[in-house]
Amino acid sequence: MTLVSSVLENFKAKATGTLVIIVLYFVAYAVRNIYFHPLSKYPGPKLWAATRFRYLLSIWSGNLHTDVQQLHQRYGEIVRVAPDEISFARPDAWHDVYSNAPGHPAFPKSKLWHGQAPGRPMSILNALDRNSHSRFRRAMEPGFTERALRFQEPLIQTYTDMLITALDKFVSQSSDGAVINVVQWFGFTIFDLIGDLAFGESFECLGNSKFHPWVALIFNSLKAATLAASLRYYPSIDWLLRLAIPKSVMQKQKEHWQLAVDKVNRRLNTEKERPDIISMIKLDENRVDGISIPELQATASVIIVAGSETTVSVLTGMTNYLVRNPKVLARLTAEIRSTFKLEKDMSLSALKEVPYLNAVIQEGLRLCNPTPVGLPRIVPPGGGTVCGHQLPEGTFVNVHPLALSRSPEMFHDPHGFHPERWLNIDPRFSGDKHEAVQTFGVGPRSCIGKPLAWAEMRLVLARMVWRFELQMADTEAGRVEWDDQKVFSVVQRKPFEVRLNLREGVPSIS
Ligand code: HEM
Repeated sequence: MTLVSSVLENFKAKATGTLVIIVLYFVAYAVRNIYFHPLSKYPGPKLWAATRFRYLLSIWSGNLHTDVQQLHQRYGEIVRVAPDEISFARPDAWHDVYSNAPGHPAFPKSKLWHGQAPGRPMSILNALDRNSHSRFRRAMEPGFTERALRFQEPLIQTYTDMLITALDKFVSQSSDGAVINVVQWFGFTIFDLIGDLAFGESFECLGNSKFHPWVALIFNSLKAATLAASLRYYPSIDWLLRLAIPKSVMQKQKEHWQLAVDKVNRRLNTEKERPDIISMIKLDENRVDGISIPELQATASVIIVAGSETTVSVLTGMTNYLVRNPKVLARLTAEIRSTFKLEKDMSLSALKEVPYLNAVIQEGLRLCNPTPVGLPRIVPPGGGTVCGHQLPEGTFVNVHPLALSRSPEMFHDPHGFHPERWLNIDPRFSGDKHEAVQTFGVGPRSCIGKPLAWAEMRLVLARMVWRFELQMADTEAGRVEWDDQKVFSVVQRKPFEVRLNLREGVPSIS
C-alpha cells in the first residue's frame, strides 16, 4: 500500500512538474510573440498575436473570412492576425504582394498551403519555384487565350443550350413555373463543360440530372484539404492528422486520382482533333518547352476544380443578388431582350459589348468572391516590402478580399448590389476604388481562366434572363443570404432555389 501510494505520489509530482513546465513554456512563448516579436508593432488582438490557435479555430469554424474582416474594421487596414502573419486591406498591397516589379519579384507561395502531395506529380498550383511555374504558364497559355476561346465557343454554347433546354422542360410542365436549385444546375453545366475542355469528355451531370461521383468528391476534399493544410502550422502534430484520416478516405482519394489519370490518358489516345484546352497545352517529357504527361494529369484536375467551384459560386451569388434586387434584374432582363431578338444571336463576342450585363458581373465578382479569405503568400529570404512596411523573411502575408470589397472607404454603400458603380456615370459612386477588387488575382499567378470564366458567366446569365422570368422562391432554400455561408478556402455553397417562369410570348423548346 505504502509502495503504491509513494509511486502514485511520485507520478503526480512529475506530472505536475511537466504540466507547469509546459504552461510556463506557452506563457513565455505567448509573451514573446505579443511583446518582443519583430511584428509586435503591428495592431491586432493579443489573443491572435500570442499563438496560431485563435487563427486555426477561425479556419476550422469556416469563419476566417468574416473574423478577419471584423479585425480590419476594428484595427485598420494592416492587422496582425497570427504571430507571423499580417493581413492587408489596402489596394496597393495587391501589386506589392502578388506582382513582379523590378527588384521586387512577386512573393512566393508557401509549402504549407501549396506543397506537393507525396507521390503526386507537380501541377500548376504547386509549382512553387518561379522557373517551374513559368514553364507551366507558357505551356498552358495557348489553351486560355481569347483566340482559344473562339475555338471553344461551340462547346460552351452546347452546354449552355443543354442547361436552358433542361430548365425549359421543368418550367413548361406547370403554369406556375418551377422552383430550381441553381447551385445544382449551374454546377451540372459548368462541370460538364470544364470536364469536356480539360479531359475531353463531359461528366454527364446535365444528362443524368446529378453530380458524377468524381465531382461530388471535390466538395468534401476541398474542406478536408483546408483543414489538413491548417494543421501543418504545427508539423509536430501533423502525424496525428494522418492517423485520424480513415483508410476509406485515402482509398477514395486514390480512386479520384486514378480516374483523372485514366481520363487524361483516354483523351491523349484519341486521334480526333477537338477544340478543347487539353489539345492546346504544350507537352514535353523533358520538361523544357512544355509539361510532362504526369504534370498534365495533375494539372487537368486542377483546371476542373479551379474552373468550376469559382464560376459556379459567382453565377449563384449573382443570381441570389438579382432576385433580391428586382429593379436590377428588370434592367438586365430588358437590356438582354432588347439587344438580342433571338437566343442564337448571343455569341460570346456580342455579349462582350453589353454594358449592363458586364456591370452586373463586375458587381457579382465584388460581392460573391469565391475565395474571400484571400491567397496567402510568404515574404522571401532577405525580407520584403508591402505598402511601405519592411517585413522579415518567412512572414505570412495576405491581402484580404472581403475586407476590401465591403469597406465603406473603398465603395459607396459597400453591401448594396449596384452594378451602376462600374459604369462610371452615377455620381454616387464616383469615389469608388475599383482597383480594390481583384477577384481573379494579380501578377504571374493570377487566374489563367479569366477569359473563359467571363464568357461562361455572360452566356449563362444572359440566356437565363432572355428565356425565363426569375423570382425569389418562397422556400427555405430560396431565402439563403449569400453572406451567410461558411468558407473553407472556397465558399461552401448552400442550396439556393429560384422560381422560374417561361417568358411571355416565347414558345417552349420542349
Ligand atoms: C469566376 C471564376 C474564377 C475566379 C474568381 C477565379 C479566381 C482565381 C484566382 C484568384 C486565382 C489565383 C490563385 C492564387 O494566386 O493563388 C486563380 C488561379 C487559377 N485559376 Fe481561376 N478563377 C476563376 C475561373 C477559372 C476558370 C474558368 C479556370 C479554368 C478553366 C481557372 C483556372 C485557374 C488556374 C489553372 C489557376 C492557377 C494559375 C497559376 O497558378 O498560374 N479559373 N483563379
